[in-house]
Amino acid sequence: MKKEKILLTGGTGYIGSHTAVELIEAGYEVEILDNLLNSKIIVLDKIAEITGVRPKFYEVDLRDAEALAKVFAEGKFTSVIHFAGLKAVAESVEKPLMYYEVNVGGTINLLECMQEYGVNQIVFSSSATVYGEQESPKYVETMRVGGNLASPYGRTKYMIEEILKDTATANPDFRVAILRYFNPIGAHTSGLIGEDPNDKPNNLMPIIMKIAAGELPELMIYGNDYDTPDGSCRRDYIHVVDLAKGHAKALEKLSQGKQIQIYNLGSGNPTSVFEMVKAFSETSGKPLPHKVADRRAGDLAEFYADSAKAEKELNWRTELTISDAMRDTLNFLEKRKNGRA
Ligand code: NAD
Ligand code: UFG
Repeated sequence: MKKEKILLTGGTGYIGSHTAVELIEAGYEVEILDNLLNSKIIVLDKIAEITGVRPKFYEVDLRDAEALAKVFAEGKFTSVIHFAGLKAVAESVEKPLMYYEVNVGGTINLLECMQEYGVNQIVFSSSATVYGEQESPKYVETMRVGGNLASPYGRTKYMIEEILKDTATANPDFRVAILRYFNPIGAHTSGLIGEDPNDKPNNLMPIIMKIAAGELPELMIYGNDYDTPDGSCRRDYIHVVDLAKGHAKALEKLSQGKQIQIYNLGSGNPTSVFEMVKAFSETSGKPLPHKVADRRAGDLAEFYADSAKAEKELNWRTELTISDAMRDTLNFLEKRKNGRA
C-alpha cells in the first residue's frame, strides 16, 4: 500500500511537532513547512531522536505563493494539516492586518496550491475561541460561531473555517476536518519537545514555565472575583500528546463520512487557575509564587468542551491528566536546562 504523505504547515511549532511524532509513529510519511518565526530548526533533530525519522523540511513563509507552489510541485502530498499561523490574542488586537495577512492570506495561498496540485484533504487548527461568549460555558459543535469574538485572532479562525466550507461547497472532492482546540498544555514524555515560543509568552503554562525556570518572579492570577467555584477563570486544559493523537484520528476520518467535519478537542473538564497553580506545585514539590491581579481584558469566566462528538465519531478521548502535563512540562524544562531539548 502506498504510504500517505502529509504536509504539516507550522510543523516545527508546539502542536505541529507533537503531531509529527504521533503521525510518524502511526506510519505516515510527514513533511514540514514552517518559516521558523515561532519555532526552532532543532525541533527536527528532536523529532528524529524520538521517532528515528527526520521529516523533510521546507523553510517557507505561507505568504510566499511562489515558494509554496514549489513545495507542492515537489511534495505530492495526500493531505495537509494546517497549523501555521500567528496566535497571540493581544498582539492581534494591536496588529490586526498582520493577523489577517498571515492567517487568512496564508490559508488562501495554501488552498490555491492544494487545488492546483490536486490535494483535496485538509485538517485545520481552529480554536474554541470561535464560539465567543455563549449562554453555556460547555461548547458544543452545533452552537453558533463567529459572534461576540474578543479578538482579530479569533476572527481569523472563524473566517478560515468559513473559507474552508466555501471551498468544499465549490469542490465536491475537497474534504475538511476542522479541529477546535481548547487549551493545550504539557510536552512529549521524552522531554525532548515541548512549548518553547520565540516570543514573549502570554498563555498560562508558558508563563508558569518561565517562573519555574527563574526567568519571571511570580504568576499574576488575572482575577479572583469571577462567578466560578474559587473565583478564578476555568479552562479545559488538554495534554498536547492527546491533542496530537486527535489529528491522527481526524486524518483517518477525512476520507469517510461527511465532506466537512468539525470536532471539539478538549477533555470536557474545566480547571481553575488556582487549581493549575496547586497542580504545578504538587508535581514540582515547590511553591509557585503567585498573586492576584486585575482581570485581563477579554477573558471569559469559563469555557470547556463538550467532547462527545469526537469520542463517538473519532473514537478519541483524552487519556492524560493535568498532573501528567505538569510532569512532562517539568521534564522538558529539565532537559532544556541541560541542553538536551
Ligand atoms: P506555534 O506558534 O508553536 O506554531 C505555529 C507555527 O507556525 C510556528 O512554528 C511558526 O513559526 C509557524 N508560522 C507562523 N507564521 C507562519 C507563516 N507565515 N508561514 C509559515 N509558518 C508560519 O503555535 P501552536 O500552539 O503550535 O499552534 C498551532 C496552531 O493551533 C495555530 O494555528 C494556532 O492558532 C492553533 N491553536 C493553538 C492554541 C494554543 O493554545 N496553542 C489553541 C487553539 C488553536
Ligand atoms: N492567566 C492568568 N495569568 C497569566 C496568564 C493566564 O491568570 O499570566 C489565566 C487567564 O486569565 C485564563 C487562563 O489563565 O483564565 C488561561 O489563559 P491562557 O492565556 O493560557 O488561555 P486562554 O484561555 O485565554 O486562551 C486560549 C488560547 C487562545 C484561544 C483561547 C480559546 O491561548 O489562542 O484559548 O481557545 F483563543
